[in-house]
Amino acid sequence: MDQSDEFISVKVEDAIGIVELNRPDVLNALNRHMVSEVVGAFERLDRDESVKVILLMGRGRAFAAGADIKEMAGANPVDFELLDPFAPWDRMTLIKKPIIGAVHGFALGGGFELALSCDLLFAAEDARFGFPEVNLGVMPGAGGTQRLTKLLGKTRAMEWLLSGETFSAEEALQWGIVNRTIPQSLLIEETKRFARKLAGKPPLSLRLIKESVHMAVDATISEGMKQERKNFYLLFASEDQKEGMKAFVEKRTAEFKGR
Ligand code: CAA
Repeated sequence: MDQSDEFISVKVEDAIGIVELNRPDVLNALNRHMVSEVVGAFERLDRDESVKVILLMGRGRAFAAGADIKEMAGANPVDFELLDPFAPWDRMTLIKKPIIGAVHGFALGGGFELALSCDLLFAAEDARFGFPEVNLGVMPGAGGTQRLTKLLGKTRAMEWLLSGETFSAEEALQWGIVNRTIPQSLLIEETKRFARKLAGKPPLSLRLIKESVHMAVDATISEGMKQERKNFYLLFASEDQKEGMKAFVEKRTAEFKGR
């Protein structure tokens, strides 16, 4: 899509915007530029009306083995303050369309944080997740301590974050980090199949369901319920709601337009 991307490749297939991390020689280690490219691609795909769902995957033998250690090894706090390397991560939370991550091989450190930024996660059976930052004398900086703790609770998050150990796809499934595990050879095919299924749903419903679920993570239940109700009412202003309910009554398949 954007020929200027250096560390990712982007294409649109069957209404699915596919973003592939593309630094396989270093297991897709995320340098600053690459993170900006990923977020820029998400934003372009979010604006593209032909795209209904976004899929994020990694080329080569890993999803992403973390932030680029070589890039940051010599940094000092002032560099970080001036470069503000985590700012693009905040923009990721503003993407309205569902993002599905397809993880194989390593998803470590910043790579795991990127996976946790997705709305749904499908993992190959060989996938390994973890936060090894502690072994480098640092800690996660792109949301890992917060997102993992919200997902797993304090006890398990502490174990993952303090030990720096990696965990299998099976463990990630048992603990609710991933939606399903899939044999590696079928990962992309199966994830695309699921993405196509979502792409057939009314886009406004997807958008407002995503917003409401994210609200549940951060807000109080009463704030979340208020927002959910407003989103529910809002959908009754859409053509797709009229079409969806009319099609049900007429016993035919609805044709959704995203308006
Ligand atoms: N940064 C930079 N380069 C990396 C990298 C990373 N995070 N992970 C792997 N690479 C590079 C290696 O240096 C190696 O490059 P060369 O061929 O030039 O030596 C190449 O990728 C292949 O890696 P290995 O030879 O190490 O492959 P392996 O199969 O033996 O081991 C691994 C795989 C266990 C994932 C190992 O590469 C590893 O431990 N990587 C680092 C994982 C890590 O610590 N991630 C956290 C980074 S910090 C962070 O992410 C902070 C944050 O929250 C934002």
